Amino acid sequence: MTNGPLLQVEHLTVSFDDFKAIDDLSLTLEPQSVRVLIGPNGAGKSTLLDAIIGRVRPSAGRIVLRGTDITRMPAHRIVRAGICRKFQTPGLLDSLTVYENLALADARGRGWRAALRTRPTRDQQVRTEQILQLTGLTAERHRPAGRLAHGQKQWLEIGMVVASDAELLLLDEPAAGMSHGEREQTADLVQRLTTRHSVLVIDHDMAFVERLRAPVSVLHMGRLLKEGTLQEVRQDPQVRAVYLGRADELECDCA
Ligand SMILES: Nc1ncnc2c1ncn2[C@@H]1O[C@H](COP(=O)(O)OP(=O)(O)OP(=O)(O)O)[C@@H](O)[C@H]1O
Ligand SMILES: [Mg+2]
Repeated sequence: MTNGPLLQVEHLTVSFDDFKAIDDLSLTLEPQSVRVLIGPNGAGKSTLLDAIIGRVRPSAGRIVLRGTDITRMPAHRIVRAGICRKFQTPGLLDSLTVYENLALADARGRGWRAALRTRPTRDQQVRTEQILQLTGLTAERHRPAGRLAHGQKQWLEIGMVVASDAELLLLDEPAAGMSHGEREQTADLVQRLTTRHSVLVIDHDMAFVERLRAPVSVLHMGRLLKEGTLQEVRQDPQVRAVYLGRADELECDCA
């Protein structure tokens, strides 16, 4: 691994017709670290992830991964360069077991069809076992994914992103719809990912963000409004103004 940031987003703009969903946005992410993106609905958080994985094309600016400009790379090459994304909506194969979903995610690099025909290597089996442990799903390994509880489905999806072995993981609202306890477990899981990965994570829940203990970037109307610790950003007058009338969203029941 080279020194310096893992990801650099430089003066990025993404336009849909005349509307700038991302507007001159810059941010960096260090290796083996977490950064949280917060901001009101429509702020451009998911669009930023779309741009990073090549799903939408920026009209200006650059995205640099480990020193390589990936701004105009086709999406499949960006995946190969080491970025994997969990979407806001689930992408599990419900009829396959937890173990099979993880094994397939691991095999995606060589294609699903090849993966379904061939047996996983010993290394892949070991990795899948590790991810079952990491995500707390060992006891559920033989269950069809469709029969998991909501929180467990989200953990399985995080596990599938981890199984891709991408250096940079993009998680869009991984704790959405979870109970308080599940959200805490999810924050701890995301923290544990930094032993191997960097994580850019979007979430609205401040208790979850607090527990992550990670730097926060606040987006508003496609622009970076503020960066800092959660304490710093939630005390910032501009941030509070953006959440005006919904300031309780910036609070949490944590210490
Ligand atoms: N493909 C698209 N075409 C046109 N407009 C789009 C497209 N994708 C997103 N937008 C617009 O860009 C803006 C940013 O959307 P985005 O989904 O990035 O917001 P977000 O911060 O993820 O919001 P949320 O918290 O609701 O998930 C919104 O106004 C949205 O309507
Ligand atoms: Mg979104």
